[in-house]
Amino acid sequence: MRLTLREPYDGLDRALGRARRLVRGGGALSHHYSPDAEWERRLHERLGHAWPCDAAHEFDTLWSEVSRSLESQGLAIGRGTYGGWDDGDRGLARVAWCLTRHLRADAVVETGVARGITSRVILEGLERNGGGHLWSIDLPALDTAFHTEIGAAVSASLRHRWTYVNGTSRRRLPGLLAELGQIDVFVHDSSHTARNLRFELEHAWDALGKGAIVADDIDRNAAFGSFTRSHAGAPAFVAQADDGGAAFGIVLKGF
Ligand SMILES: C[S@@+](CC[C@H](N)C(=O)[O-])C[C@H]1O[C@@H](n2cnc3c(N)ncnc32)[C@H](O)[C@@H]1O
Ligand SMILES: [Zn+2]
Repeated sequence: MRLTLREPYDGLDRALGRARRLVRGGGALSHHYSPDAEWERRLHERLGHAWPCDAAHEFDTLWSEVSRSLESQGLAIGRGTYGGWDDGDRGLARVAWCLTRHLRADAVVETGVARGITSRVILEGLERNGGGHLWSIDLPALDTAFHTEIGAAVSASLRHRWTYVNGTSRRRLPGLLAELGQIDVFVHDSSHTARNLRFELEHAWDALGKGAIVADDIDRNAAFGSFTRSHAGAPAFVAQADDGGAAFGIVLKGF
């Protein structure tokens, strides 16, 4: 309720997310996209990599480490577990890892941290690349009991490459992108309203050099489709999350 008053659209999104989980399969509250069963192979072909790639094999080991590290802190990966928000899905994390590695990303920006699963895999990718930095914009959960869980998946040894930016993407993203000038990868996983997604996509697109955007939970509204239609020359992919609980999208620029 307090979030609804302070950030009306975000409060509504969180309430809809909860309702969506109560409706079996989320169908009644989902916007329709048709995931491409071959998205990962087609994405890799566009990037000039074979599929399955070596990075995806490395990811399997990393995913086990991430799961173990959260479990050892008493936190199991899941949907709706961080103040009503979902942890990053395995497929979403894998594409964030592949893009960071294959594009040899240097400047990465994401929105939505929670326990920091996408943050962890992007930072691991940058570390493996031997350079780069991640800026993560995040509005902490309203219930302060969850604040000790923020970034729990991010090991101390990776934090020298990480800047946590507290606040809403609407307030923080334009200034951050202006400061950075150009970015290589952008990951949207904050408030999934149409208004917020479209806002983030347009700002990220303008700041993107030759690179990629990933957007989670695109089936919550029509914004991803309207964005890709207005950038019709850009290769776009719709993927189903590994756990089948959501769809995410990828758009490439300069490929
Ligand atoms: C789905 S979770 C992020 C999951 C994370 N990417 C991962 O892989 O585990 C969404 C996060 O975005 C935060 N959030 C909600 N509204 C936001 C907004 N308008 N701007 C930035 N962060 C927001 C939530 O508090 C939560 O921490
Ligand atoms: Zn790959």
